[in-house]
Amino acid sequence: MDLRLLHGPAITPHIEDLARLRIEVFREFPYLYDGSLEYEAEYLQTYARSPDSLFVLVLDHERVVGASTGLPLSDEIDEFKQPFIEAGVDIERIFYFGESVLLPEYRGHGLGVGFFAKREGYARRLGRFDFCVFSSVERPLDHPRRPPDYQPLDEFWHHRGYQHLPQLRTELDWQDLDESSQSPKPMSFWIKDIRP
Ligand SMILES: CC(C)(COP(=O)(O)OP(=O)(O)OC[C@H]1O[C@@H](n2cnc3c(N)ncnc32)[C@H](O)[C@@H]1OP(=O)(O)O)[C@@H](O)C(=O)NCCC(=O)NCCS
Repeated sequence: MDLRLLHGPAITPHIEDLARLRIEVFREFPYLYDGSLEYEAEYLQTYARSPDSLFVLVLDHERVVGASTGLPLSDEIDEFKQPFIEAGVDIERIFYFGESVLLPEYRGHGLGVGFFAKREGYARRLGRFDFCVFSSVERPLDHPRRPPDYQPLDEFWHHRGYQHLPQLRTELDWQDLDESSQSPKPMSFWIKDIRP
């Protein structure tokens, strides 16, 4: 397995692979994303445009089987910047994590832990960030598509040193498997202080 770190426009040759991977993995609860290559192309453009974005790609014989992303929050879309601006936080000091996605057969071997280590290390090396932040979707406990054996990632994130900020919220539009068009999904943020 090959771990490849790419920045900004260098992702361009892999955008379609990454889009396919996101569509496949995010069909699962809690995302339930009925993805399209069109939505993906727009989403991934934000990262491709940001010179300081990071893509950690996991390749198995040149097939993208996992990926994790991040970028300066100031390069993100308004939905992610606005809650911090309204809270009076300097967004120039925040590095934002996009997703971590791995095909199921590659899980449980430490790659997810590695995604956090690689992204935090990169944010520290850039030298201008105090915090790493990401957001997660909130689904009701009685959601009809919640698998009975679903394990939330909260513990996994706590173990990586992240604190949930349930009061810091946003909404992001996408189309769920049960929907015929996009609708807003509630998201809340998690944060870690990466200062030495
Ligand atoms: C989130 C995700 C990327 C995690 O990846 P993963 O590679 O399975 O995670 P890891 O194996 O690194 O870590 C999971 C746990 O196994 C442990 N672990 C690490 N190495 C291990 C190994 N060799 N063997 C067994 N367990 C191991 C980790 O310590 C961690 O436990 P901890 O939180 O108690 O420390 C993966 O589950 C996924 O793609 N999920 C679906 C998409 C998603 O929900 N993404 C997150 C939001 S964008």
